[in-house]
Amino acid sequence: METVTVVGLGKIGLPLAAVIANSGYFNVIGADRNEKVVETANKGISHIQNEPGLEELLYNAWKTGTFRATTDTAKAVSQSDVVVVIVPVLVKEDGKINYEFIDAAVEDIGKGIRKGTLVIFETTLPAGDTRNRFGKRIEEISGLQLGTDFHLGYSPERVYSNRIIQDLSNYPKIVSGDNEKSLELVKSFYKRALNCDILPVSNLETAEFTKVAESVYRDVNIALANELAVFADSLGVNMKEVIHAANSQPFSHLHYPGVGVGGHCIPVYPYFFINKGLKKGLVHLSREVNDHMAKYAVDQVERILGSLQDQNILILGLSFRENVKETTKSSALLLADKLKQRGAIVYVDDPLYSSEEIAAFQVLPYSEAIREKIDAIILQAFHDQYKNFPFDHFPNCRMVLDGRNQLDKKKIEDLGMKYRGIGVQ
Ligand SMILES: NC(=O)c1ccc[n+]([C@@H]2O[C@H](COP(=O)([O-])OP(=O)(O)OC[C@H]3O[C@@H](n4cnc5c(N)ncnc54)[C@H](O)[C@@H]3O)[C@@H](O)[C@H]2O)c1
Repeated sequence: METVTVVGLGKIGLPLAAVIANSGYFNVIGADRNEKVVETANKGISHIQNEPGLEELLYNAWKTGTFRATTDTAKAVSQSDVVVVIVPVLVKEDGKINYEFIDAAVEDIGKGIRKGTLVIFETTLPAGDTRNRFGKRIEEISGLQLGTDFHLGYSPERVYSNRIIQDLSNYPKIVSGDNEKSLELVKSFYKRALNCDILPVSNLETAEFTKVAESVYRDVNIALANELAVFADSLGVNMKEVIHAANSQPFSHLHYPGVGVGGHCIPVYPYFFINKGLKKGLVHLSREVNDHMAKYAVDQVERILGSLQDQNILILGLSFRENVKETTKSSALLLADKLKQRGAIVYVDDPLYSSEEIAAFQVLPYSEAIREKIDAIILQAFHDQYKNFPFDHFPNCRMVLDGRNQLDKKKIEDLGMKYRGIGVQ
């Protein structure tokens, strides 16, 4: 059997490695710099939660011997026919791209690579990086020639947390290579590894651009929904009803408004275009509109409560979205900032995080002892645990800001509390 190294065993890499190791075609080595991740993976245990099917797949691969993990990426690469890279590229506070993790991974690949290896990048990247930044660096370190001695592919990871295993086989895999031969190798690899439909594009740069374009599409459309929701509020029109009615014909795909856009994809990848020279326009503006929603939500709370000085506000959900333990660019952090600027005392509840983990974000972890003090509640991430949230246990709460338009307005109003959604009055 051929051997595949998956570099990065995070939320995406571990499920990917587990699926490939169960394909029947490959032995998989999972390489990660985090010793704890490697240690648990080498016991057949997943460190990722809420990912249906992952625990079983990983355990099965471990038990049958088609999966093992290591911190020694270079050595794993030296034993592999295919290397798949899925470590993050981030954006810094100033909007500049942070290549720290992936550059380190590429150094290791350069040290370990042998003739004939296919290296595929799956991490979302600015167009041109696979060839010009990473391909060149691997050539420099290894002394091997791209296109003849080793092959390069790019195939974006487009899955959604909580249904990664399902998405890996359901979505067509966009594939590309540095030349025709590489493309054929990439196609053949994914056909066997994921048993999914394959969608080849003409070069690495097109595949890279496609993934960023998908994220930008979401950001811009959410910004449109947010802008319309704010306007609908000013007219007393219910945006939820508008979306339902408008989307009843096939040319309208209005997205859902909300208190903000978080995570390490949608609010991050627009900067991959912006940083490469995309002129000021819709993409820039959408970032501003979406990041402004936290302030808009806090304005709504203030309008009903009056001054927020010393008011006790509870935010439900630290995660950037429901049922995922991930805080990158979470709107909870923007909300907490805006509330604190106005003198409010901010408590955060999140069933996916311990009190210590919450306190690390300079907010107060919510506990039962504070229940009677709470003046307002903001729903930020609609975790399953909040589906039957006991709003009736908060005797002094005067309003609920439903930042995801998910709560039962009537039930809240029946408790004598004011209800506000985003574009829903
Ligand atoms: N999370 C998502 O919802 C999502 C969705 C689609 C695509 N993606 C893509 O997947 C990439 C990875 O995301 P993730 O959520 O799995 O990240 P993650 O933070 O959960 O995991 C990254 C893993 O890489 C490891 N790592 C970092 N640098 C390394 C190095 N030099 N060598 C070896 N291991 C290293 C870390 O220890 C960590 O375990 C993202 O950058 C993005 O491009 C993510």
